[in-house]
Amino acid sequence: MTKMKDTPPRGAFSPRADICVLGGAGHVGLGISIVLASKGKRVLILDVNTAAMESIRSGCMPFLEFDAEPVLKQALESGNLLFSSDVAEIASVPIIMVTIGTPIDEFLNPDMKDFVRCFEEMLPYLSDEHLLILRSTVYPGMTEWLDRFVAGKGLHPRIAFCPERIVEGHAVRELQVLPQIVSGTTPEAEESASEVFSWIAPSIVRLKPMEAEFAKLFANAYRYIQFATTNQFYMMANSAGLDYYRILEGIKHDYPRLRDIPKAGYAAGPCLLKDTMQLTAFSNNRFSLGYSAMMINEGLPLYVVSQLEQKYALREKTVGILGMAFKADSDDPRTSLSYKLKKLLKLRAKQVLTTDPLVRHDSELAPLEEVLDRSDILILGVPHSAYRDINIQGKPVVDIWNFLGKSSLI
Ligand SMILES: NC(=O)c1ccc[n+]([C@@H]2O[C@H](COP(=O)([O-])OP(=O)(O)OC[C@H]3O[C@@H](n4cnc5c(N)ncnc54)[C@H](O)[C@@H]3O)[C@@H](O)[C@H]2O)c1
Repeated sequence: MTKMKDTPPRGAFSPRADICVLGGAGHVGLGISIVLASKGKRVLILDVNTAAMESIRSGCMPFLEFDAEPVLKQALESGNLLFSSDVAEIASVPIIMVTIGTPIDEFLNPDMKDFVRCFEEMLPYLSDEHLLILRSTVYPGMTEWLDRFVAGKGLHPRIAFCPERIVEGHAVRELQVLPQIVSGTTPEAEESASEVFSWIAPSIVRLKPMEAEFAKLFANAYRYIQFATTNQFYMMANSAGLDYYRILEGIKHDYPRLRDIPKAGYAAGPCLLKDTMQLTAFSNNRFSLGYSAMMINEGLPLYVVSQLEQKYALREKTVGILGMAFKADSDDPRTSLSYKLKKLLKLRAKQVLTTDPLVRHDSELAPLEEVLDRSDILILGVPHSAYRDINIQGKPVVDIWNFLGKSSLI
C-alpha cells in the first residue's frame, strides 16, 4: 500500500467516513461493510485487492453472498460506500475494523506475518483517538499483544476484538440476527465497540479479549470435531458394508439427543481446519481431539480413493468430480477437499474431470454434461442444489452425503 508523506495531526478526523473496514473487499469485510452502509453509516472499504474493489464499485459482488447484491446497489446509490487502497486514509476515519486473513503456515501454526505487517503499515496514521476493532479470527492473546505493540510505539488507541461468527455466504442476514461477542482491552474500548455493533446486531455478549478469542476458536473447532465424528462413523459403517444413512436415520428418529449429528461430508473451507490448528498450536500441540478431527476429515478423501481402488481398475477409468467449492451452493474453493480428491486421483486414475456451476477461477473445469458423459465413475464433491436432479446415466456414483438418494456405500 502507498503511504502519505505527511501524517495528519493526531485526532484530526475528517467527516469522509464513519468507519473504515480494512480488508473490506474480502468475505468478512464486504458483508459487514454493506450492512453498515445500509444502516446509514459511511463506510470506507480499504483493500489491496483492486480487482475486487472494481467489481464492488460496479455493483457486482466479487463472490457469492446471498441477498447481498441489492444491499450493495442501495449502498452505492446512497453514496455510503467509499473505496481506497491507501492506508494513509485511516488517519481521518475514527473507527478502523480489521478483517484481513489470518492463515496458518506449513507447520500448521498461525502465520502472523501479514497481520503484523498490516499494523506496522498502519502505525504512522494511528492516533490515540482511534477505535481499532479486530474482527479477523486471531490466535489467543493477539488482542493483548496488539495493545502492547502499539503502546510500545507510544500509541494508545482503544482496541477491541469482536469476532465474526456468520456462516460464509449468509452475512447479510446473520449479521443482523446473531448476538455479537464484544471485548476490549479497556472498559472504554469495550463500550465503544459495543456501541458500533449496536448499529447492526440484536444483542451484545461481553467477554474479555482472551475469552472472546477462545470463544471464536472453540466454536469452529467444535463444528470441525462434529464433522469428524460423523465422518468417522461413516467410514466405519461403510467398511462394514453398511449404508451409514440407514443407521443415522434410525438413531435420529424421534431421539432428541442425537438430533444435531450432521451428515458425513468433506469438511473443509477457509476456517474450520485453520482455527482448530490455532487452538492446537496454543495448547502446545496437546489438543488431541483437534488433531484427531484433522486426521479424520483430511483423511476422508484418502479413504474414498482407497475404497475405489479396491473396487475398480482405476487406471482404466475416467473419474468425474461434481462440485469443487468447499461447501454446497458456495463459489469458494479455498482448501476444498474436492481438490485433494482430484490430486489423489490424478496419480491413480486414467483421467480426472472436474466441474462446478459456481466456482469462477479454475480453468480446468469442464461443463457438467461433458463430465457426466465422459466419466466412468462419478464422485459428488459437494452437494450443490444444482445437482439435485441430475441424470447420472446409471454410472456408479460416490455420494458420501447421501444427497442423490441412491446409497452412500462405496
Ligand atoms: N470466510 C468466513 O466465512 C469467515 C467467517 C468468520 C471469520 N473469518 C475470519 O475473517 C478473516 C478474513 O477472512 P476472509 O474469508 O474474509 O478472507 P478474504 O481473503 O476473503 O478477505 C481478506 C481481505 O483482506 C484484504 N487484505 C489483506 N491484506 C490487506 C492489507 N494489508 N490491507 C488491506 N487489505 C488487505 C484482501 O485483499 C482480502 O480482500 C480471517 O481471519 C478468517 O478466519 C472468516
